[in-house]
Amino acid sequence: MGFFNWAAPVFNRVADRWSPESVEDIAEWLRPYVPPRGRLIDVGGGTGALAVKLARALDAEVVVLDPTPEMIGYVPEDPSVRSLLGTAEQIPFADDWADAVLVSDAFHHFRDQPAAAAEFSRVVRPGGGVVVLELDPRPWFMRVIVAAEKLLGEPGAFFTPDGMCAFFAEHGIDGQCTPMKGPSYRFTGTPR
Ligand SMILES: C[S@@+](CC[C@H](N)C(=O)[O-])C[C@H]1O[C@@H](n2cnc3c(N)ncnc32)[C@H](O)[C@@H]1O
Repeated sequence: MGFFNWAAPVFNRVADRWSPESVEDIAEWLRPYVPPRGRLIDVGGGTGALAVKLARALDAEVVVLDPTPEMIGYVPEDPSVRSLLGTAEQIPFADDWADAVLVSDAFHHFRDQPAAAAEFSRVVRPGGGVVVLELDPRPWFMRVIVAAEKLLGEPGAFFTPDGMCAFFAEHGIDGQCTPMKGPSYRFTGTPR
């Protein structure tokens, strides 16, 4: 059984860590790509805590795509939010379906990151966006987290900000990595 199957109830208690300010920040990074009534896929969206808030902030349709039924089971009922079982490596939507893809604290869990990047390029419309919120693995406490994730059977495949930009550029998505608070940073890009 995977880590998130049994950790889902615990994660659900801490998943809603999004203040109104942080939701507005994320909405601002997505707004250039997601128009009102547009379509956003929250890949690895887990319990949907962020998706519900973003659906309101952007006035958009948000799909929470996640392979863990126990996580998806917590997605709140909301007319603008749909939950779907599936992986980043095989996104169950047609080409150009989405205005943008968001990945929050999940990219390092993907077992085939090149396949995920290829799927982002395929499913995001021309001129659409890819926003990835990640953690820089270099601080000492992050090294402990990386080791713990690996012990729990997760890939722990973290990138430094420069590494993330280089990875996406190599896989057809050009963008920028912007440092945020502590080890957090964001990648914002557009498929070529
Ligand atoms: C740490 S949780 C983050 C959840 C949410 N995005 C958040 O920020 O609260 C990581 C999520 O990634 C999901 N995940 C793991 N492998 C995945 C994959 N290959 N494709 C999509 N999601 C995946 C897990 O099921 C889990 O819900």
